[in-house]
Amino acid sequence: MALLVTGGAGFIGSNFIIDCIKNFNEKVINLDKLTYAGNLENLSEVKDNSNYQFIEGDILDSSLVNEIFAKYKPSAVVHFAAESHVDRSIDNPNNFLQTNIIGTFNLLESSKIYWDNLAKTEKLKFRFLHISTDEVFGSLSEQDEPFSEDNRFEPNSPYSASKASSDHLARAWNKTYGLPIITTNCSNNYGPYQFPEKFIPLMILNALENKKLPIYGDGNYIRDWIYVKDHCDAIFKILKLGAVGENYNIGGENQKKNIDIVNQICNILDELKPRSDQKSYKNLITFVKDRPGHDRRYAINANKISKELKWKPKETFNTGLQKTISWYLSNETWVKGVQNRGYKDWIKKKYSFDK
Ligand code: NAD
Ligand code: TYD
Repeated sequence: MALLVTGGAGFIGSNFIIDCIKNFNEKVINLDKLTYAGNLENLSEVKDNSNYQFIEGDILDSSLVNEIFAKYKPSAVVHFAAESHVDRSIDNPNNFLQTNIIGTFNLLESSKIYWDNLAKTEKLKFRFLHISTDEVFGSLSEQDEPFSEDNRFEPNSPYSASKASSDHLARAWNKTYGLPIITTNCSNNYGPYQFPEKFIPLMILNALENKKLPIYGDGNYIRDWIYVKDHCDAIFKILKLGAVGENYNIGGENQKKNIDIVNQICNILDELKPRSDQKSYKNLITFVKDRPGHDRRYAINANKISKELKWKPKETFNTGLQKTISWYLSNETWVKGVQNRGYKDWIKKKYSFDK
């Protein structure tokens, strides 16, 4: 038996697969389309492992997905594949609706056909883990209570609307067809292998290249940051112990303002890799035009997973950020590879001061 992981060449999926193979000795089938965000370099340390199988393909391709189920007979699906960047969803929502909504529908349908035909014991063990985001709950003010699993869905971006739609589909396939689905809604991740269009790696790598550090609006937007390995640990726990048909919120207990994060990154870099002119990286901070529909604050109430499954994040923001910055500093080849893969065009289009 094996795990079918979708989107395993992306940021969180690749961290998850590395942990699966190195720490848990699981067999993993990784189905990934290799969009701009998919990078097989992320998986170089497991690529030759006999427990790992990569299949390049699209979750929209039902016949491929059905073939994979028939051939590998997975005991679980862990569904990461998605278009994941809010700014790109504002520029071009179409791919988001295709992959995040129709792609999830296809995967649910293929899973249902496969699961319906399993023998009783395999049927009982089978799980479909739908990996989603806290962004489905919309935006909080500074005074609001953090999101619990019972918050209503109020998505504000094409990305979060497409993820919310996929969460509804996952719920319906559980309630209507009995498919053993569990959905997770996690806060912002950071850590190794994150594509540098996202906030934290963008700031680290721009600083190292002496480029401006673009902060949207007033910089007082808040996210609840979680180190990616803590998210992966939570997913494992839920896979083994989570209750079918339930949703679990996952968060890092680290609510931070964007401007404070950038200052912290600059302080760490000033120590680890001082600029040649000895000035602080903070001189590169630039406030730029805000993102339309920018959610003010996300924060997670993770009491349910903490109480029911005894899960807690291990990293504080300080330890996680130190690890992340050290990782980007010592993985120059990976960084150069990523920067040559369509990333420069996006940055040029987004930030006119780099033109
Ligand atoms: P990512 O953009 O880094 O990776 C997405 C992966 O999916 C890529 O490897 C890409 O090639 C693949 N993919 C895209 N479309 C596909 C398709 N049609 N068929 C097959 N593969 C396809 O994303 P990530 O940051 O690793 O996020 C993974 C999941 O976790 C997403 O579902 C996202 O919504 C969710 N999530 C992310 C965060 C975060 O902070 N990054 C937080 C909470 C939840
Ligand atoms: P991001 O990493 O895009 O995640 P999300 O929008 O899904 O939370 O952005 C995190 C925060 O950082 C968000 O408030 C937007 C802000 N941000 C900037 O200020 N500048 C940037 O260049 C980027 C990419 C994000």
